Amino acid sequence: MTRSGLPGSPAATRLSPARLTLALLPAALAAGVLVLLLGGSPAGAQTPDPFDNSWCLSCHASENLQTTLPDGEVLDLSVDPAVLESSVHGTFDIPCVLCHTGIQGVPHDPLTAADRRDFTLQANAVCANCHETEATQAADNQHAAARAAGNRAAAVCTDCHGAHDATRPMPHSPGVAQTCATCHSEIYDLYRESVHGEALLSGNRDVPTCTDCHGVHDLQGPTQPAFRLFSPEICARCHDDAALMEKYGISTKVFDTYVADFHGTTVMLFQRFAPDQEANKPVCIDCHGVHAIRPPDDPQSTVFQANLLRTCQRCHPSATESFPSSWLSHYSPEPGKATVVFLVQLFYKVLIPVVIGGMALYVALHWLGTRLRRRKERRA
Ligand code: HEC
Ligand code: HEC
Ligand code: HEC
Ligand code: HEC
Ligand code: HEC
Ligand code: HEC
Ligand code: HEC
Ligand code: HEC
Ligand code: HEC
Repeated sequence: MTRSGLPGSPAATRLSPARLTLALLPAALAAGVLVLLLGGSPAGAQTPDPFDNSWCLSCHASENLQTTLPDGEVLDLSVDPAVLESSVHGTFDIPCVLCHTGIQGVPHDPLTAADRRDFTLQANAVCANCHETEATQAADNQHAAARAAGNRAAAVCTDCHGAHDATRPMPHSPGVAQTCATCHSEIYDLYRESVHGEALLSGNRDVPTCTDCHGVHDLQGPTQPAFRLFSPEICARCHDDAALMEKYGISTKVFDTYVADFHGTTVMLFQRFAPDQEANKPVCIDCHGVHAIRPPDDPQSTVFQANLLRTCQRCHPSATESFPSSWLSHYSPEPGKATVVFLVQLFYKVLIPVVIGGMALYVALHWLGTRLRRRKERRA
């Protein structure tokens, strides 16, 4: 396995002794079973010790060890011990047989894989022995669903992490998006040019990468209605964060103004009452795009003034030139921007308190006056 996988962070060890014991427990059990099966002692010097990697490497370090799979493809069987050693598993001295649990001696049991991909898919089952959390999450995610439907290309653990060269993944690094790009290259090409992708590739860690919006092991369907309907909340995680947005001079009113206008109001209603219903309700991505989001002043942006009408027309086919300007965008009405709406709102803001307050005052004064008058009459 020579794929570079995800970039590793510095050698910092995040494993407590307790966690290591826990991680290695199933392995130790498997080891016991293996020793029983082989009828030998792991410390015995006579018979080859399957837990001693150097025994495996006595054959597999050879550069020209290979075998032919049933479909005729050649499987290279050489293993570079240096790669394994510098991987996260090498750091913990995990013996080969804890991952290759089917290998119990030589010659090995005959291969059951029909082709190269089949070999990978079979070999991946073992990761679950020690990484239960990730494996459980991944068991019914979108990639697993695609595989179950017959698409064998959908990602398994080693497609993203590598096998012998697995390193510590670094969330929020360009490496994550580049890993996805090995299979989703068209989306990556859009993302790379977007305001988020451009920033990520130039070292910014505040912007979303693929996994911030989709999750990783719990990846769930972006083509399901609920994902679409709740997507404004994904954007709001950052675009509603005043401290974060202040750094970039971007308005945090975008979410509130969206919710307050007819588009957002409808979406909020659907979120509450019909989250799984297929509906063409406008969410952020309908105006801004998904993977190709650009700043509004970029001529290629779908919300750039000259392109805006076309964006509205996708759902309002009869909209004319003046249609976008009849709408407040993300602005709250204020003098200079939607002055008339602002004045009407101001008028109501003044009128309502004055009318209701005046009436209340009138009633109160009337009541007080009556009481004073009565008291005077009684005294007299
Ligand atoms: C005496 C040499 C030799 C030793 C020692 C050896 N292997 Fe192999 N290994 C082979 C050969 C030859 C093949 C090809 C087998 C085939 O074509 O069926 C192979 C195939 C494999 C394969 C891929 C196909 C399969 O059967 O799954 C793996 C994985 C593997 N060995 C792992 C190991 C591990 C782990 C050890 C140590 C416990 C080990 N080998 C020890 C010679 C050896
Ligand atoms: C963390 C688990 C793990 C460890 C430790 C491990 N392997 Fe593997 N190995 C795998 C996986 C998974 C694959 C399948 C990778 C793929 O699809 O290409 C694999 C593939 C192989 C292959 C097939 C050829 C190849 O490189 O794809 C051989 C041979 C092999 N391993 C031998 C070894 C030997 C020998 C050791 C110990 C020196 C070892 N492995 C340690 C998980 C492991
Ligand atoms: C025998 C147990 C065992 C098996 C099998 C195993 N791993 Fe690991 N793995 C570990 C241990 C122990 C660590 C170190 C844990 C840590 O530091 O948090 C680790 C760490 C990792 C890490 C880095 C985790 C982190 O917190 O940064 C990744 C990624 C990983 N393994 C992937 C895999 C993949 C992919 C497979 C299957 C090919 C696999 N592992 C099979 C025991 C195992
Ligand atoms: C589609 C790519 C992909 C697949 C498939 C995948 N992972 Fe991951 N994995 C990642 C990324 C990316 C991270 C880094 C975490 C993040 O970005 O949130 C990660 C993180 C991890 C970690 C470290 C978790 C931590 O808390 O630091 C482990 C362990 C791990 N994966 C194991 C696995 C195992 C086991 C499988 C298979 C069942 C698997 N992964 C499948 C991409 C993947
Ligand atoms: C080894 C190839 C591979 C890698 C790596 C990979 N994917 Fe996928 N992915 C697939 C395949 C194949 C499908 C199924 C496509 C289909 O059904 O149309 C899929 C499906 C998806 C879907 C669901 C698409 C849909 O139409 O429902 C999402 C979302 C997704 N991948 C995100 C990611 C992310 C995020 C990463 C990186 C962390 C990633 N993928 C890495 C191959 C891969
Ligand atoms: C800002 C959030 C965000 C980021 C970042 C993001 N996506 Fe998406 N992605 C979405 C949303 C929302 C959808 C649903 C689109 C729809 O409903 O039309 C989607 C749809 C998808 C789909 C399925 C539909 C399709 O277009 O094929 C795949 C696959 C996918 N994304 C992969 C990726 C990959 C790979 C990356 C990283 C290069 C990525 N996404 C980055 C939010 C994001
Ligand atoms: C993880 C945080 C995060 C998420 C999630 C996120 N963004 Fe962003 N977004 C940013 C940051 C940070 C910037 C500023 C980047 C820069 O200027 O370098 C930005 C920039 C933008 C811009 C350009 C604004 C301008 O005036 O330049 C738009 C438009 C945008 N995002 C829309 C969205 C939409 C729509 C979503 C949801 C689909 C979303 N973002 C999700 C963090 C995020
Ligand atoms: C109906 C279309 C539409 C919808 C829906 C929409 N926007 Fe916008 N958005 C726009 C337009 C048009 C602009 C440009 C406003 C301007 O500069 O006049 C914009 C501007 C922005 C900006 C840049 C603000 C700045 O200060 O630079 C961000 C960020 C943004 N939108 C995020 C979002 C988010 C997040 C959502 C969902 C919660 C969303 N938008 C929903 C049309 C829309
Ligand atoms: C994804 C589809 C979609 C897009 C894109 C979209 N709209 Fe809408 N719009 C709707 C729907 C659906 C309604 C009805 C909302 C409701 O029922 O509350 C609506 C309602 C409206 C209304 C209320 C009056 C009416 O006609 O019902 C205005 C004004 C409006 N949109 C303006 C815009 C503008 C301006 C744009 C472009 C910047 C835009 N819309 C883009 C789907 C969309």
